[in-house]
Amino acid sequence: MVYKHILKPILFGFDPEAVHDFFISLGQLAGKYGVTRMIIATLYQYRGRDISKTVDGITYRTPFLLSAGFDYNGQLSRILPCIGLGGEEIGSVTARPCQGNPKPRLTRLPQSQSILVNKGLRNEGVDAIIERLKMHAFLGEARKRFVIGISIARTNDEQSVPIQVGIEDFLYSFKRLNEENIGDYYTINISCPNSFGGEAFTTPELLARLLSTLKTVPCSKPVYVKMPINIPWQRFYSLLKVIDAQGLHGIVIGNLNKDYASLDVRAEAPAMYKGGLSGKPCLHPSTDLIYKTRELYGKRFTIIGVGGVMSPKTMKEKFDAGADLVQVITGLIFEGPSLIKKLANVYSKQCVR
Ligand SMILES: Cc1cc2nc3c(=O)[nH]c(=O)nc-3n(C[C@H](O)[C@H](O)[C@H](O)COP(=O)(O)O)c2cc1C
Repeated sequence: MVYKHILKPILFGFDPEAVHDFFISLGQLAGKYGVTRMIIATLYQYRGRDISKTVDGITYRTPFLLSAGFDYNGQLSRILPCIGLGGEEIGSVTARPCQGNPKPRLTRLPQSQSILVNKGLRNEGVDAIIERLKMHAFLGEARKRFVIGISIARTNDEQSVPIQVGIEDFLYSFKRLNEENIGDYYTINISCPNSFGGEAFTTPELLARLLSTLKTVPCSKPVYVKMPINIPWQRFYSLLKVIDAQGLHGIVIGNLNKDYASLDVRAEAPAMYKGGLSGKPCLHPSTDLIYKTRELYGKRFTIIGVGGVMSPKTMKEKFDAGADLVQVITGLIFEGPSLIKKLANVYSKQCVR
């Protein structure tokens, strides 16, 4: 109530990226101290029956994760467990630091319950993020109860556009994370819109080249691929075949929606705007792809469902379609931190068999 009716109207009056950065600083500060962690946990943590879930050998205290793009530099891992999340996906991180695309990088589309994202993979680069995450080694038991996935993307600059350079860019980050044993699982993000070089690795041939190169790195952790949601099913299926043949554990379905016609209020995003849509426009395309993939492949893939989860109803749709875990980002921005507790309460009653 406080977030939705008092804080949100104030926050939505400011530049979205400034608000995002403010929340990262605030969350990082709140995560430092036991007392603030305790206050946040008292307010927001789910306390019902056990809804933990083990997927690919990793146990999630709740099956809800923060999706990639919010904690892109890995600063929030101490505070996020206090709002009931079972894990988060940090990043996307890149081999070299990225400043991001020219501003505006984020635009709210409140009537359509969406954010136009043109972030351009702004992040400090994999080495800086590894150094920060090494600190978590000191967090003991608390750290063990919160899963950290790391999303890896190609550096968003002209230098990494040639295919072989792009592959080596992915390889560098993947190698460094494995060498340092940072992260519980990895997601290869091949579907970031509006970056240099585009979504080159969403063709079966280039995806196979990328994944077979990454396979040369010794890795004992689950590896997933973050899928685009705007390609026809036949092409999506051709990518699934590659991921299956390369022996990866699963997929994250999926990334932002690039079809502006799917907005409830089309005029909210004029044609000259750049970026992909998050939130409600992602709901049906991603749920549909989850359903089709599960139907075709049975249990072969772990499926992490993401896109448009803003309520218990939309969360349930993702699990009913076949998701093993659910990620959220825009729902948290629009509904506030109490969303996860609401999802967990409904999940415990309607989804756990
Ligand atoms: C501000 C913002 C930044 C994002 N950055 C990334 C990113 O760096 N890597 C990625 O794989 N997805 C990124 N995404 C996409 C989300 O992870 C997610 O797939 C998409 O927003 C759909 O989920 P939602 O409807 O819950 O927002 C970003 C989304 C938002 C809103």
